[in-house]
Amino acid sequence: MWCGQHGGMPEENKVALVVGSNGVIGRNLIDHLVQLGDWDIIGLSRRGGTDAGRVRHIAVDLLDEEDGRERLRGLEHVTHIFYAAFQDRPTWAELVPPNLAMLVNVVEAVEAVAPGLRHVSLMQGYKVYGAHLGPFKTPAREDDPHHMPPEFNVDQQNFLEARQKGKTWTWSALRPSVVCGFALGNPMNLAMVIAVYAAISKELGLPLRFPGKPGAYHTLLEMTDAGLLAKATVWAATEERCANQAFNINNGDLFRWNEMWPKIARFFDLEVAPPLPMSLDVVMADKEPLWNDMVERHGLAKNSYQEVSSWRFGDAVFSWDYDFLADGSKARRFGFHDFVDTEEMFMNIFADFRRRKIIP
Ligand SMILES: NC(=O)c1ccc[n+]([C@@H]2O[C@H](COP(=O)([O-])OP(=O)(O)OC[C@H]3O[C@@H](n4cnc5c(N)ncnc54)[C@H](OP(=O)(O)O)[C@@H]3O)[C@@H](O)[C@H]2O)c1
Repeated sequence: MWCGQHGGMPEENKVALVVGSNGVIGRNLIDHLVQLGDWDIIGLSRRGGTDAGRVRHIAVDLLDEEDGRERLRGLEHVTHIFYAAFQDRPTWAELVPPNLAMLVNVVEAVEAVAPGLRHVSLMQGYKVYGAHLGPFKTPAREDDPHHMPPEFNVDQQNFLEARQKGKTWTWSALRPSVVCGFALGNPMNLAMVIAVYAAISKELGLPLRFPGKPGAYHTLLEMTDAGLLAKATVWAATEERCANQAFNINNGDLFRWNEMWPKIARFFDLEVAPPLPMSLDVVMADKEPLWNDMVERHGLAKNSYQEVSSWRFGDAVFSWDYDFLADGSKARRFGFHDFVDTEEMFMNIFADFRRRKIIP
């Protein structure tokens, strides 16, 4: 039962607006909030979703300022905004205008109608540290100086910092590594890239080859489990001393693909072969008919090839021939001690994809 359907709202009620509710981050955050049991949840995305229990969905295009304002008028009970929306663009510079505009539009619209707003949580990433540009200072720390703009993550935080001054609400920012979990139809989904690439390799009778740059097979990196990130996000949004702070959130262990890849191959019952650099965006472009055939033959859920393809993101991640890690100790010092074993994480996610009949 959603409290917004009733008249008054007791002071302690927590109403989460999860912005980007279909994303790999937003979906898993909603699952966690549901499990916590004491939240009413509103998911916001363009596609919308199916209401269930204490979760309801609204379909809003946040790039349409007028439409957004109109549709967000009914959100007067919102106490926490969890912002995890994302608009993909071909260049880093082009990411800035839409991604800043969406945050500004939703914060301004909700602030205007929700007097009980207590917190705005911002999802960032290692892009704050320039991790996507090339070898960056590792381990990256929250107070490292910013890199040369354009950088939408920094602009978003600057907006929140300025907007929060003199307000009763606070903000927090989460900086995960690559986020792994279940989602469909999103541009950055590494676990899906690996699972579908492995499934298609198997279908073609091929061994599993790491498709990235030669150096990328050997560097140190870390991941962030979407469930762990969800816990950290709610923790930072509700723990008083996290107010107006940013936190790196990662699984807490490091790995190299050269050790992980053979384990992934084993999960899919595949031989592992030496790496061979190739662009997934290029070599997977013609695999749609094969995918459609696999869906039929294996009785898979009817997901389109586009919904399970984030090849461009796979190419980016597998090109990192430099260490890719940030110091996660600030969150621990502030009281968040959860961790996830990354090998277990991958295997659990792949098993989940099988259960959901996304892959054979
Ligand atoms: N994925 C990762 O590995 C990763 C790692 C580190 C940091 N991050 C950061 O985390 C943030 C979220 O990333 P994500 O990967 O979770 O994104 P995502 O999976 O692409 O999800 C984006 C969400 O935003 C919604 N959305 C997009 N445009 C919208 C619009 N105009 N109006 C309303 N909703 C809109 C999408 O739903 P509809 O399509 O239905 O609108 C979707 O729910 C980004 O800032 C990203 O840089 C991601």
